[in-house]
Amino acid sequence: MATPPSKLRKVVIQRPKGTQDLFGDESARWEAVEALCRLQFKNAGYQEIRTPAFEHTELFERGVGEATDIVNKEMYTFEKSERRLSLRPEGTAGVVRSFIEQGMGRWPKPVKLYYMGPMFRYERPQAGRQRQFHQVGVELFGLDTPASDAEVILMAMRLFESLGLPNLSLQINNIGTAACRETFKAGLKVRVQPYLSQLCADCQTRYDSNPLRMLDCKNTACQSIYGLPDIQQFLQTDFTSEACQAHFAQLLSILDALKVPYQRNFMLVRGLDYYTKTVFEITSTNLGAQNAVCGGGRYNTLVEDLGGPETPAIGWALGLERLMSLVGALPVKPLDYYIVTDQHAAAFDLAEQLRAQHHRVEVDLSGKGFGKQLERAAKLNATQVLILGEAEAKNGEVQLKILATKAQSVVPYSQLFER
Ligand code: HAM
Repeated sequence: MATPPSKLRKVVIQRPKGTQDLFGDESARWEAVEALCRLQFKNAGYQEIRTPAFEHTELFERGVGEATDIVNKEMYTFEKSERRLSLRPEGTAGVVRSFIEQGMGRWPKPVKLYYMGPMFRYERPQAGRQRQFHQVGVELFGLDTPASDAEVILMAMRLFESLGLPNLSLQINNIGTAACRETFKAGLKVRVQPYLSQLCADCQTRYDSNPLRMLDCKNTACQSIYGLPDIQQFLQTDFTSEACQAHFAQLLSILDALKVPYQRNFMLVRGLDYYTKTVFEITSTNLGAQNAVCGGGRYNTLVEDLGGPETPAIGWALGLERLMSLVGALPVKPLDYYIVTDQHAAAFDLAEQLRAQHHRVEVDLSGKGFGKQLERAAKLNATQVLILGEAEAKNGEVQLKILATKAQSVVPYSQLFER
């Protein structure tokens, strides 16, 4: 006889691999950091944009690039009503889609936007690499000036400094325009050709489809080939046009004047196809293998490539999980008042008035004796306890108890509000 369903052992469902539950103190830390980001972006004139967590797959194929690992291997794609949709692996493509669709090209320039939210990449999970992770990003549309590069880079650096992040390094490179890169790709292929059979299968494909991407390979054998003196010598020569070099030099001079330290990294090409001219990553030696906390760059043709008006742009995104692993302890606002009571209508009324004065207030809801309620107040580290029984409610007063000193006094409501 079959076992009735009620007798079957209930299987506990766990979260999918590469995802995280955020709660308690950790969630409070995230909230504080997100609030700081919002404040700094708003103070610099950036407005929030919220785009869907999924988009038409084609947007990422055309935007991020079909030859990239992100689009090739890592997207969560599904079909509904014969349409291919993908969970967003990054934020820029969706923001650009919205920029075009909402006619933001007609807004006064520059258009400055920021976003935060979950992104999805089907990668092998490890420390600092999740399948659902969170990005905070900024995008500036409409200007191709070194000053706009400097502004967005500076915003990231100042944000990290204000959070006291340790051992940061700004890696920066100029990869020029698509035209500049044609000569570079051809030269790179000539130099890599003798070693082609020793490269990993992915790099052998990249050699034909997207040679720049070879430099981004994580395979140590490939990296040692790209580190060979003749290839390095080739990589260290700036192959970009005079105009691209002048743009980059002006950006560096602003960073120098502001004493923002950076390292020119000729190997930095980034893992997405839309970049032109300036690219950068901010890394920390405290992060381990996945050491980039923030990455970005200029993408002067993406808006047009996706069907919009000719619009240069630049932006970056930081990974919140990686950022939070670098942020130390953050001050948490303590509970100002815990109301011990069996008079709930009066207690709620009092709590609302105190909260209107920006105090953190909790009302005991347990219906237990006052002794037990006081124990709970101590557990919550409440600075002060307000005891509100029948007699106090009738007289419009409370017994105010300071938990640290155990001092207790009778105080009328009005005096509480004046404090
Ligand atoms: P990205 O370098 O692919 O750039 O990602 C930006 C940041 O997201 C990384 O530096 C890292 O901190 C975090 N990140 C990426 N993948 C993962 C993962 N699997 N787990 C945890 N964190 C991760 C972009 O996404 C571009 N859209 C940035 C941009 C904006 N460029 C121009 N505008």
